[in-house]
Amino acid sequence: MRRVVCPGSFDPVTNGHLDIISRASRLYDEVVVAVLINKSKKSLFTVDERVDMIAEVTREYGNVKVDKFYGLTVDYCKQQDIPVIVRGLRAVSDYEYELQMAQMNHRIAGVETLFMATNPLYAFLSSSLMKEVVKFGGDISGLVPDSVHQRLIERLQRED
Ligand code: PNS
Repeated sequence: MRRVVCPGSFDPVTNGHLDIISRASRLYDEVVVAVLINKSKKSLFTVDERVDMIAEVTREYGNVKVDKFYGLTVDYCKQQDIPVIVRGLRAVSDYEYELQMAQMNHRIAGVETLFMATNPLYAFLSSSLMKEVVKFGGDISGLVPDSVHQRLIERLQRED
């Protein structure tokens, strides 16, 4: 069975992430979306909330599993016996850091990285921008799934 890991912070998942996940799900038998447990980064949603949100919006794909991990992505890949990571590239500015990570991941563990060009409709999206726009009352409908939009509004309104 051909499997791929799609790692990330997903705080929260956007339609840009979903575009990559759904396209990967058509190329591979199974996509494992792996949410990083990052104790040093302040997040809006807990890891479990992020896992639940992704599971809800990827259920329809049928071959997407959602998990969380701590530590190196390549160690997670080894534990799961998955040799490939998929990452979306939104713009040239993403490329430098992504290339470095891909090369390091290959060097230390032989794990390959597949880069997928983001759909231009979503190339300007980031989870941070979504949070900022919602916090100040902007409309992000169509840029994140409706359920995620709702949770962003609830969480950011409660925080104020
Ligand atoms: O959604 P993000 O924040 O762009 O995802 C970045 C992520 C989680 C893929 C990256 O930071 C990562 O793999 N972190 C786990 C630790 C690790 O393996 N670092 C890279 C070493 S080359």
